[in-house]
Amino acid sequence: MKYLLLLLSSTLSLSVLARPSSTQPRDLPTCRLIPGDASWPSAADWASLNQQVEGRLIASTPLGAVCHNTFVSSALGKVNTYDAAKCSDLRNTWFLPETHYVHPSSPMQYTSTNNSCNPFDSDPSAPCSIGNHAVYAINATAPAHVQAGIAFARQHNIRLVIRNTGHDYLGRSTGPHSLAIWTHNLKSTELISSWGGPGDYKGPAMKLGAGVMGIDAYRAAHTEGLVVVGGNCPTVGLSGGYTQGGGLGPLTSVHGLAADQVLEWTVVTADGALVTANANSNPDLFWALRGGGGGTFGVVTSMTVKAFPDSRTSSAFVNVVDTGSNTDAIYKGFETFISTQLAALVDQGVYVLWVLNPAGFFIQARFALGMKQSELDALMQPTVRSLQSLNLAADYVSMENPDFLTAFETTPGAQWNVSDNNTGGRLAPRSLVTDPAKVGALVSAIRSVGQQTLITGVAFNATRGGVSSPDEVAAHPRFRDSLFNIFLGLPTRYDDWQANLDAMDTITNKFLADLEAVTPGAGAYLNEADVQQPDWQTEFYGSHWDRLSKVKAQYDPEGLFYARTAVGSEQWTEQADGRLCKL
Ligand SMILES: Cc1cc2nc3c(=O)[nH]c(=O)nc-3n(C[C@H](O)[C@H](O)[C@H](O)COP(=O)(O)OP(=O)(O)OC[C@H]3O[C@@H](n4cnc5c(N)ncnc54)[C@H](O)[C@@H]3O)c2cc1C
Ligand SMILES: *[C@@H]1O[C@H](CO)[C@@H](O)[C@H](O)[C@H]1NC(C)=O
Ligand SMILES: *[C@@H]1O[C@H](CO)[C@@H](O)[C@H](O)[C@H]1NC(C)=O
Ligand SMILES: *[C@@H]1O[C@H](CO)[C@@H](O)[C@H](O)[C@H]1NC(C)=O
Ligand SMILES: *[C@@H]1O[C@H](CO)[C@@H](O)[C@H](O)[C@H]1NC(C)=O
Ligand SMILES: *[C@@H]1O[C@H](CO)[C@@H](O)[C@H](O)[C@H]1NC(C)=O
Repeated sequence: MKYLLLLLSSTLSLSVLARPSSTQPRDLPTCRLIPGDASWPSAADWASLNQQVEGRLIASTPLGAVCHNTFVSSALGKVNTYDAAKCSDLRNTWFLPETHYVHPSSPMQYTSTNNSCNPFDSDPSAPCSIGNHAVYAINATAPAHVQAGIAFARQHNIRLVIRNTGHDYLGRSTGPHSLAIWTHNLKSTELISSWGGPGDYKGPAMKLGAGVMGIDAYRAAHTEGLVVVGGNCPTVGLSGGYTQGGGLGPLTSVHGLAADQVLEWTVVTADGALVTANANSNPDLFWALRGGGGGTFGVVTSMTVKAFPDSRTSSAFVNVVDTGSNTDAIYKGFETFISTQLAALVDQGVYVLWVLNPAGFFIQARFALGMKQSELDALMQPTVRSLQSLNLAADYVSMENPDFLTAFETTPGAQWNVSDNNTGGRLAPRSLVTDPAKVGALVSAIRSVGQQTLITGVAFNATRGGVSSPDEVAAHPRFRDSLFNIFLGLPTRYDDWQANLDAMDTITNKFLADLEAVTPGAGAYLNEADVQQPDWQTEFYGSHWDRLSKVKAQYDPEGLFYARTAVGSEQWTEQADGRLCKL
């Protein structure tokens, strides 16, 4: 029945698509194919896929190819690519997200390319190959394009990846020898003035295509006098990895996690069906997609989220510069701040970002929705006074904007480059941070990182999303009793590949190991994390792991959707040549 409806509703002739029924077990191959294998799809097979997707199939060329004499791939052969002017332009814009999200396969996290086509290579004769970029990507603008990609990957036993903006810190929107379904151009936004679907919520909602980015959604909501929960970075996709992974943001302390906002998803599942997932229809899938991680349960084509009245928005900034002789006082001030002042701020609806690095200690209380500047000033006063009492020169500025979008677009810190770091993260339980006997050890672990590189904490109270219990959505249950999410990074090096691999090991074996030792059982936020995280099943998913595994087995029994550290990925291994094999 589902199949018939699908045929009727599709604009494409789906009869050409081989779609083995998931109810009939087939002989499952042990490994996915890679180019060069005898059964790898032929040029004619790819041409036929291209026809099915209305000419929207793109053979990848890494951006960095213009800085190399030649680029070689299985799809394109050997191509002359060097262009000095374009290479110079690329180097000037490489760090902007805009450079990458309009490209079908370029990941922003450089280390997930495997260094195969380095844009900063000084020698144009150095090789440029496809590395971990998808071999082909479908520039999807309709669910039928997604369905064609899924059918092709299944029929030919090739690796499939889902790519939206390419922002992912763990490289989960990238994969060697893969076909990518690129969702960035699924751009629709629609106001639903009063949600009438399942669930208790009755207010306004926005239906957002899978390619809608945070800033697109903020702007669309703004024109209706509304706000939606999104991230800090304007170009992170809203319906992709962000909301599907949980989603922290400026409005989390007021309205909850991004995952808490979702009323409905439309999804293409591994069997090729276009389904609705909400409280009544496919409720398990509805649950899993709300925080159980992107790239693994299906390809979301749109989501419908709650929207809320816009309001005046205030922000405040505290800067304390490390002079070289005040570091002890800075960390004393930091300890007092996180253990005695921060909870009160987030409980009033403020979203607070703290930053420590060798340059100093910085607090951003950004985007307090509905709060007057004077109210925020009063809330921040104890912090400023206590820093001053430690003889620290604490610069304080604050501002008020008439609405959220204006605040988001004009407050300092709104300009984002690609965050080009090897990263790691850890949740910090509120009970631990506010325990005078325990906070000192946490501060020591934070300090040992903060004196070498940048370490931040995004603080929130994620209990106001209208969810009745931490188990109502799949997002890590520890979000609910955490005070902040610690995030740290060591900058990507383009001149020394090995240094990146070493940095990743430092993060795993030193920085995070030290933080884990003082935060037992705290867990980590899967989107702002270490791709090498040991025990990632427990750390990223907590007590939701077993249920998530069941949903995965039900909706994707053959493991079509694979991403490192995603649910189900523990059943696969990536070999040295990038080939994905079943364990
Ligand atoms: C500069 C920067 C700032 C950030 N700020 C925040 C923040 O404030 N709060 C926060 O919570 N996080 C933040 N993040 C982390 C962010 O949530 C993740 O990077 C997230 O994975 C990005 O999702 P995307 O869809 O844009 O990226 P992509 O890299 O394209 O995709 C990420 C993952 O989602 C999957 N996916 C994408 N689209 C779909 C789809 N339609 N259906 C199914 N799976 C899909 C991909 O397969 C991949 O596994 C930030 C990241 C960066 C780089
Ligand atoms: C962002 O990158 C550009 C170059 O692409 C650089 O000029 C600029 O200083 C960077 N901005 C920040 C905030 O890092
Ligand atoms: C992807 O499709 C969109 C919409 O048709 C188009 O504007 C864009 O140029 C395409 N991108 C590429 C890289 O082909
Ligand atoms: C969040 O704030 C509410 C008050 O609005 C409070 O009752 C609750 O305890 C806070 N959350 C946590 C985890 O302490
Ligand atoms: C990542 O790198 C950039 C530039 O190297 C830096 O400005 C930024 O703060 C870093 N972010 C993290 C989380 O380390
Ligand atoms: C990644 O790089 C290493 C070292 O150059 C190489 O051996 C390996 O084959 C590469 N992987 C892929 C998928 O190209």
